Amino acid sequence: MATSDLFGPASSPPLSTPVAVAERMAALRAELQAHGHRYYVLDEPTLPDSEYDRLFKELQALEATHPQLLSADSPTQRVGGKPLAQFASVRHKVPMLSIRTETDTESTGAKNFDARVRKELGLTANDPPVEYVAELKFDGLAMSLRYENGVLVQAATRGDGEVGEDVTQNIRTINQIPLKLPSRSAGPPQARLAALGSVEATFPPAVLEVRGEVYMRRADFEALNEKQREKIGQGAKNEKTFVNPRNAAAGGVRQLDPAIAAQRRLSFFAYGLGEVTAPAQGGPDFNTHFELLQTLKSWGFPVAAQVERAQGAIELISYHQRMGAARDQLPYDIDGVVYKVNSLALQRQIGFVSREPRWAVAHKYPAQEQLTSVLAIDVQVGRTGKLTPVAKLAPVFVGGVTVTNATLHNEDEARRKDVRVGDTVIVRRAGDVIPEVVSVLLEKRVQDAPQFTMPRQCPICGSDAVRLEGEADYRCTGGLFCAAQRKEAILHYAHRRAVEIEGLGDKLVEQLVDANVIRTLPDLYKLGLTALASLDRMADKSASNLIDALEKSKQTTLPRFLFGLGIRHVGEATAKALARYFGTLDAVMDATEEQLIEVGDVGPIVAKSLRTFFEQPHNREVVAQLRACGVRWEESEEGRPAAAAPRLLAGKTFVITGTLPSLSRDEAKDRVEAAGGKVAGSVSKKTDFVVAGAEAGSKLLKAQELGLVVIDEAALLALLAAAAD
Ligand code: IVH
Repeated sequence: MATSDLFGPASSPPLSTPVAVAERMAALRAELQAHGHRYYVLDEPTLPDSEYDRLFKELQALEATHPQLLSADSPTQRVGGKPLAQFASVRHKVPMLSIRTETDTESTGAKNFDARVRKELGLTANDPPVEYVAELKFDGLAMSLRYENGVLVQAATRGDGEVGEDVTQNIRTINQIPLKLPSRSAGPPQARLAALGSVEATFPPAVLEVRGEVYMRRADFEALNEKQREKIGQGAKNEKTFVNPRNAAAGGVRQLDPAIAAQRRLSFFAYGLGEVTAPAQGGPDFNTHFELLQTLKSWGFPVAAQVERAQGAIELISYHQRMGAARDQLPYDIDGVVYKVNSLALQRQIGFVSREPRWAVAHKYPAQEQLTSVLAIDVQVGRTGKLTPVAKLAPVFVGGVTVTNATLHNEDEARRKDVRVGDTVIVRRAGDVIPEVVSVLLEKRVQDAPQFTMPRQCPICGSDAVRLEGEADYRCTGGLFCAAQRKEAILHYAHRRAVEIEGLGDKLVEQLVDANVIRTLPDLYKLGLTALASLDRMADKSASNLIDALEKSKQTTLPRFLFGLGIRHVGEATAKALARYFGTLDAVMDATEEQLIEVGDVGPIVAKSLRTFFEQPHNREVVAQLRACGVRWEESEEGRPAAAAPRLLAGKTFVITGTLPSLSRDEAKDRVEAAGGKVAGSVSKKTDFVVAGAEAGSKLLKAQELGLVVIDEAALLALLAAAAD
């Protein structure tokens, strides 16, 4: 039937005969079922939701007026049953077995399994590889679905493998699980369903038990927990959040009220069979497990796309690795992969040992989530002064390593998760991602556990910790004084564009700070030859070079010194603007936020940052000590002279390219800027001068193309000299 036949006009004329009504209802059921399959299983809806709803309502209306024509397999009957007092027991005709589990993180699981299978089959090294099917191991709960004559009649949990519980009412609410299977006699939509599979269309036998896993997708789990948190927030007493999708799924399946189960949005994957009509009685005669899975798919059951045939241990190992890497991107949790011998004849030959098939094995991945408790919440200070709250955990093995710390990122995150000392929490470590606290088990919280608050003082140095507007992080403002920031602060101060201490690089700073030779910046200037020479890999010559460089660095400029202090948001240009405007360091240190904002380059954020920095007595102390050590620069007491004086190069843009004979590029930049010019990184029509040195490349070419003025160093120096007059 073409889809349009069924949809007809929005308000169909009343159906005149009972036969017409019955036919219409059957057609609606079939179409709704086929569409449900496309929507929930294939994830390829072909009908707008509104149309689906319209057909659904039409069917509901016909069922209400013709209750004698209502059938249990109708899509309207997924949530129908009344709450139960308890679940009935179900004896499995074919026991639900579990499988042997390998837990190594390497490849031995696959190798050992393959070796055992080959031994059972009497194969030698010269025989070809055994063909397997590799599948995902879904992290949910096992379920057996029984269909008789194509209709779902019973769904049972695994229980002890022999006897489970009848959870049919709840399982019917899972949209991915067909209530009715395609049949030879049924109308065209179902025949279409059968044709969806890649194998030749066959029809399900009279008795069919499909085994698989009921699980919850991560997104559905998150949504459920979000709803639970809302309810708890509104004071609901008997509600709780769920630890993981598996627990939430298991809880949903074991609800006595199917209406509640329906809200859980469970999903299903098929991976095997239980009791099935024998081939002699007209049942299917599969040769391989792979073929069996493809057929289940053609009958409308969800089968994961990641099912693969694999030749021998090598391809199993590859599957294990690939799925391990893809694990985090899947929309649902897996806890491993499963390997099965593909040939059903070989499966029968290999058989079982005690209660486990010898032809299948589960190869697990390390769990990515574990429960543990919070021993403390520390605040760590990073190299740049950033304060990070970190939960100290009772050690727990998760994601393949022992975890004792989990970051809470920042104040907002810590508040949102509301982690408190003593809490039981779920920690997650997926792949190489740093461990995280996923959530707190609120029901396990000890009463009166205080809420975490970010400290207002740096836990390392005691300076104020501030959170600037628009930022997520608190930062320590004791930049120069704070031990956590020592290395960063020293490196920044010593940078060639700051105070410049030649030869004081990464490695050396690391050593000096780790050996506790340098605690604060002024300690640099107290370094003696003996202390230096005693360091690892420090030759006498380099030690004395460094002493010389330190001495040389004492004569600096105010902008370099200001920049070197490493005040947040105070870059080179700002430092220059401040120096030009205020003239002296004391004037900058004592300026109010309002005064600071008057400087062209300074906005409210920079002003605030400067203020908090210089309000820290520690920082002022360090500055005073540096000056006492002999660090000096020229100051202009009258203030603002540079800003006021008209400068020759004001408004002119320079681009410097290639290697100049005497000036470094930074020096040239400094001097242009000091004369009021601007230095840009790339050539454009707006460039006034291009200063080209040796081996100038594409920038020079572009300048020539644009017909710009190109000068050499000598011409630049002449220009600067003229500007200074
Ligand atoms: S096959 C006779 N395949 O893992 C073989 N089991 O002990 C029966 N599971 O709780 C199991 N994904 O529910 C098989 N692709 C898969 C599976 C799978 C998850 C579960 C199963 C059982 C456990 C195996």
